[in-house]
Amino acid sequence: MGSIGRTVRKAFGPYERQVSELYRRIFIDLEDMSRAIRDWSEPTDILEIGCGEGALAERLTRDFPQAHYTGIDIIPHLGRLYEGPADRVQFQQVTAEDLAVQQPGRFDLVVINDVLHHVPDALREGILVAARDLLAPGGKLVFKDWVRRPTPIHAAVYVADVHVGGDKGVRYMPLDEQEALIARVFGAGAVTARRSIAPWGQNLAFLVEKRG
Ligand SMILES: C[S@@+](CC[C@H](N)C(=O)[O-])C[C@H]1O[C@@H](n2cnc3c(N)ncnc32)[C@H](O)[C@@H]1O
Repeated sequence: MGSIGRTVRKAFGPYERQVSELYRRIFIDLEDMSRAIRDWSEPTDILEIGCGEGALAERLTRDFPQAHYTGIDIIPHLGRLYEGPADRVQFQQVTAEDLAVQQPGRFDLVVINDVLHHVPDALREGILVAARDLLAPGGKLVFKDWVRRPTPIHAAVYVADVHVGGDKGVRYMPLDEQEALIARVFGAGAVTARRSIAPWGQNLAFLVEKRG
């Protein structure tokens, strides 16, 4: 959740980046997200699946100055608003499934932030399987999605995703569905920590460990 669609983006012209950041902040504090990832891991090779235009990428490359960062997405303009360092950073338009075939076990940290509710149901498990295959043994996945719960902010997130983000197919999973999906792919007990990301309790991040 939280990205603004192309029509809205165009309307803001030179202020697009600032507007995009302000808009995103209504729903998630990306600084807090990066802080959680920092508290949970010390990666050297990071993969972000569904990196979008590079908002979280900017925090991760700043907060992990020793690590290499790879951002992948299915959109053509991925990393377009990224303004962090250019060395040790790569953006690639490729699916997680294809990358998993090319580079299995390469990464020690995979991040999936606010992606799965945009993905058709039938493809969700495949992305987590790819994330698992892309991780080295002992590697970590930080998975964060919006938890479906009947609250006023939930209604606002939905309206924003559909009408501002332009994604008519959005579907948020309730907590038990998120937990079951992670357990199916990584095994029972693979979640070793969880934490709410500011400013909403429905931003729930999981630390998932791939067993060696
Ligand atoms: C709200 S943005 C999140 C961007 C980034 N993770 C962040 O937090 O700044 C969601 C992104 O998920 C991407 N996405 C949707 N389906 C995907 C898929 N099947 N594989 C990879 N990325 C996907 C979208 O293209 C979009 O860029």
